[in-house]
Amino acid sequence: MAREFTSVGVVGLGTMGAGIVEVFARNGVDVVAVEISEGALERGRATLTGSTDRAVAKGKLAEADRDALLSRVHWQVGLDALHSVDLVIEAVPEHLDLKQRIFAELDRVCKPEAILATNTSSLSVTEISVATSRPNQVIGIHFFNPAPVMKLVEVVRTVVTSADVVADVEALCERLGKVDVTINDRAGFIANALLFGYLNHAVGMFESHYATREDIDAAMKLGCGLPMGPLALMDLIGLDTAYEILDTMYRRGGRDRRHAPVPLIKQMVTAGLLGRKSGRGFYTYERPGSPKVVPDERTPVAAEPALADGARAIAKVGVVGSGTMATGIIEVFAKAGYEVVSVTRGAEKSAKVCEAVKTSLNKGVVRGKVSEADRDAALGRINWSATLEHLADVDLVVEAVVEELSVKKALFASLDEICKPGVVLATTTSSLPVIDVAMATQRPADVVGLHFFNPAPVMPLVEIVQTIRTSAETTATARAVCATLGKTGVVCGDRSGFVVNALLFPYLNDAVKMLEASYSTADDIDYAMKLGCGYPMGPFELLDVVGLDVSLAIQRELYLELREPGFAPAPLLEHLVTAGYLGRKSGRGFRDHTRR
Ligand SMILES: NC(=O)c1ccc[n+]([C@@H]2O[C@H](COP(=O)([O-])OP(=O)(O)OC[C@H]3O[C@@H](n4cnc5c(N)ncnc54)[C@H](O)[C@@H]3O)[C@@H](O)[C@H]2O)c1
Repeated sequence: MAREFTSVGVVGLGTMGAGIVEVFARNGVDVVAVEISEGALERGRATLTGSTDRAVAKGKLAEADRDALLSRVHWQVGLDALHSVDLVIEAVPEHLDLKQRIFAELDRVCKPEAILATNTSSLSVTEISVATSRPNQVIGIHFFNPAPVMKLVEVVRTVVTSADVVADVEALCERLGKVDVTINDRAGFIANALLFGYLNHAVGMFESHYATREDIDAAMKLGCGLPMGPLALMDLIGLDTAYEILDTMYRRGGRDRRHAPVPLIKQMVTAGLLGRKSGRGFYTYERPGSPKVVPDERTPVAAEPALADGARAIAKVGVVGSGTMATGIIEVFAKAGYEVVSVTRGAEKSAKVCEAVKTSLNKGVVRGKVSEADRDAALGRINWSATLEHLADVDLVVEAVVEELSVKKALFASLDEICKPGVVLATTTSSLPVIDVAMATQRPADVVGLHFFNPAPVMPLVEIVQTIRTSAETTATARAVCATLGKTGVVCGDRSGFVVNALLFPYLNDAVKMLEASYSTADDIDYAMKLGCGYPMGPFELLDVVGLDVSLAIQRELYLELREPGFAPAPLLEHLVTAGYLGRKSGRGFRDHTRR
């Protein structure tokens, strides 16, 4: 029989604590909510009232249920009020000495059988537990932000946590409607260990002006389907909390440089820019605690780049190549009203591409997304050719041939001879340096990367890669073209992986390393990222879809260019590729896909 929890205590009612109070009170558990001062108590109460009022306004909570929920919470200053609760969850700032002091005090105040839990994200639960005389009753219960919404709870057992306590807490999580994964006490547990290197890397990109905050966030939302971008997430977590988590993970987690907090984070914390809670972090909010972003001096003035930025007029577009990307890109341009010249290596290939474009447009008609007239008009705008000479009068060329530098360089050298002056020459490469391709021409200022995502007609993102030789007009043209295609163009520098792959693949590689170290299972790691962070797929699901060989190749490129030791491909990934387990396409990757 699992233990009954009729009354729990929550210590610290900040970003996490107030949400945790709501989780319990919503599920019929009485809560003693404790803060350090009357002022802090009021803030916690206001957070809970605000959140439940929003739920009522959205029709997700009846007024009577809200009133019952609020009546279950007893607000108190000081820990003495916790003498009769069955469980305490501590959610005070991420400092070991503070948490140890609080646990020593809780040990004195609470009844002997009470379970003492910490919501720490990165500190050692074991070190916290030894501040009490009951380390076997101390456990980590790590909720995710916002606690009422996120389904995941990481239950962290130390070497001395008793099995009964673990089982009781697991049953409690179920009662709260949460999905729990139980793991050992290691810095960052599952989700944060995989998340924070990525967040820190994104802040580094922003700090080095590699891309703007809007573009970094848009890239991860639109390129990977994440619920929010990394900088907006830093603001939600709180920069002070994020700093402490990174710092602890750096010190506890083997001094991985990727966890050493980017200096900008410390500067922002010192300047009081803590994120949503202080009203300003990477973005500016309507007021402290508000989720609503308001414009500030960094907000881009116009969403759509005007011709005044120097963007050149584009009417006719050449697309070179006959693969998946070229086919999708031809469709995208033709649908958007551009005249398109498709160049392949022969009539047979052209016929195949033409068929594929027709099939895709017909699917659009069947789904009611494209009218028959628009389909016919789009097809009528495409000219099929097998010679580059037909690109003599286009305004923009998009190259999507095989991912080999020598082939692309030879092609760009030919384009340089054939195309009229002022043409923008774009490559869709996902891993080669754009500058190498640009320098194969006599006009590197006109060369830019246009990194479309697969499938191009569906994915809303294009990375616009500017080299150190790309002119402002060329970038402005690329931006304007993306806007007319209905895509979000994000501008970034010419570095391996651009924004999306550089942030995504090291995280996937870290997940493989975590599995290899037997810290958790592929299923639990996938759950943790989906239910704790709202990712559309877990890392192993995604790796199997993308292909393990493709992922390994990208990771190798990142490692070779950036020389970051933490980017070294996981040996397990290499072994699976060698064994021919490439993911869905070969029937087996991290999972067996033949039996489904
Ligand atoms: N922010 C997140 O996204 C997130 C997610 C999961 C876990 N966590 C963890 O939750 C914990 C709390 O983080 P947070 O982001 O909510 O911090 P926060 O700064 O928003 O809130 C901390 C609260 O603790 C109160 N406090 C400080 N000393 C106290 C004391 N002696 N007694 C009672 N209350 C006290 C503060 O007044 C403040 O309201 C940390 O361990 C953090 O790592 C945070």
